Amino acid sequence: MNILVTGGAGFIGSNFVRWLKKNAPEHRVVNVDALTYAGNLENLSDIPQDEGYRFVRADIRDRAKMNEIFFENDITHVVNFAAESHVDRSIVDPELFLSTNVLGTQALLDTAKQQWKLAPEDKYSRAFREGVKFLQVSTDEVYGALGKEGFFTEATPLAPNSPYSAAKASADLVCRAYHETFGMPLNITRCSNNYGPYQFPEKLIPLMIHNCMEGKPLPVYGDGMQIRDWLHVDDHCSALYAVLTRGAAGEVYNIGGNNERANLDIVRLIIRSLGAGDELISYVKDRPGHDRRYAIDNTKITTQLGWSPSYTFEEGIQQTIAWYQNHMEWLEHVLSGAYADYYERMYAPFFQ
Ligand code: NAD
Ligand code: DAU
Repeated sequence: MNILVTGGAGFIGSNFVRWLKKNAPEHRVVNVDALTYAGNLENLSDIPQDEGYRFVRADIRDRAKMNEIFFENDITHVVNFAAESHVDRSIVDPELFLSTNVLGTQALLDTAKQQWKLAPEDKYSRAFREGVKFLQVSTDEVYGALGKEGFFTEATPLAPNSPYSAAKASADLVCRAYHETFGMPLNITRCSNNYGPYQFPEKLIPLMIHNCMEGKPLPVYGDGMQIRDWLHVDDHCSALYAVLTRGAAGEVYNIGGNNERANLDIVRLIIRSLGAGDELISYVKDRPGHDRRYAIDNTKITTQLGWSPSYTFEEGIQQTIAWYQNHMEWLEHVLSGAYADYYERMYAPFFQ
C-alpha cells in the first residue's frame, strides 16, 4: 500500500506513522501536514526520511497540491487525521473548524475520486481502481452526550453539540454521500478519547500531568464528574489498521476499550502517581455545551474485525505519565513554541 497519512505530525497521526513503521513496514507512507500549532515534527524525529517514508508540508484544502501528491506517490490509501481537534478552541473560532474539518475532507475526497475512479468524467460510473480505500478518522463526539445509561453504537443518531463535533459529523456525512453517490470505497471510524505519548498539553491528561509536575493548579471544568471512555493511542492505531485492511466498504466502526472514567478520578490518579496533593485541584467555570458522558459499544469492531485493545488503563496511564516525565524537553519546546523552528532546522536543507 502507498498510504497518505494526513495530519501525521499531530498526536494520533504521528503515533500511527510510528505504529506502521514498527508493525507494517512494507507499506510506503507519505505524511502530509500543514504544521498548525498542533503539528510538531519533533513527534517524528526518530523516523528517518527514506524510500518508505516522506514528509510534505501542505494543507489538505490545497487541491492542486493534493493532486500532485497523489499522482507522484501513486497513493492507494488515505488515512485522514488532519483536523482542528480541540473542543475549547472550536468555541472561540468555529469557522476554522468548518473550513479544515469539512472542506479539507471534501478536497481530499475529490482528489481521491479523481485519481481512483476508472472513468472520472462519467458521472454514472461507480467503478474504482481495485484495492484503494479512504479512511476517515472521526470521533465518538459526533453522537453527542449520553445520560447515566447506554452506549454509542454505529446506529446512534448523530447529535453533535460543539462546533468541533458538528464539523466532524458534517465531514462524516460528506464521506457517506461520496460512498452512496459515487461508490467511493471508504470507512469511517469513531473513536473515544485517546491518551498516550506526544499529546499536545492542551488536552486533559497531558495538561494535568504537566501542571502537576510544575505544582500548578489543575483546572477541572464544572463538577469534574463528566465521563470519557479512554483508549491508549496505540490501541487506536491497531484498530485503524484493522479497519484499513479488513473493514467492509462503506461501513462505520466505533472504536473504544470499555474504560469509562470521571475526569476528577483521572486528575486524582495523576496527582497520586506524581506524589502531589488534592489542594492543586481548582474547579473552574464549565465548558459551554459540555457533553456529560461518552461510552462506546465496540461490539462491531471486536466481533467483525477481531480487534481488541491491548493496554489496561492502569498500565497505559502509568506509561504515559512516565513518558512525559522523561520528555521534559519535548514539553518545554511545545509550551515555548520552539518546536515551530524544528521544521526550518531539520527540513529546510531538503527543499533547497
Ligand atoms: P491533533 O490536533 O494533535 O493533530 C491534528 C494534525 O492535523 C496536526 O498535526 C495539524 O498540523 C494537522 N492539520 C490541521 N489542519 C490541517 C490542514 N488544513 N491541512 C493539513 N494538516 C492539518 O489531533 P489528534 O488528537 O491527533 O486527532 C487526529 C484526528 O483524530 C482528528 O481528526 C480528530 O478529530 C480525531 N480523533 C481524535 C481523538 C482524540 O482523543 N484526540 C479521538 C477520536 C478521534
Ligand atoms: O471523544 C473524542 C474526543 O476527545 C476527540 O474527538 C477530540 O479531538 C479530543 O480533543 C477529545 O475531546 P474532549 O473534549 O473529550 O477532550 P479534552 O481533553 O479537551 O477534555 C476531556 C475532558 O476533560 C472533558 O470533559 C473536558 C475536561 N477538561 C478538559 C481540560 C482541557 C477539564 O476539566 N479541564 C481541562 O483543562
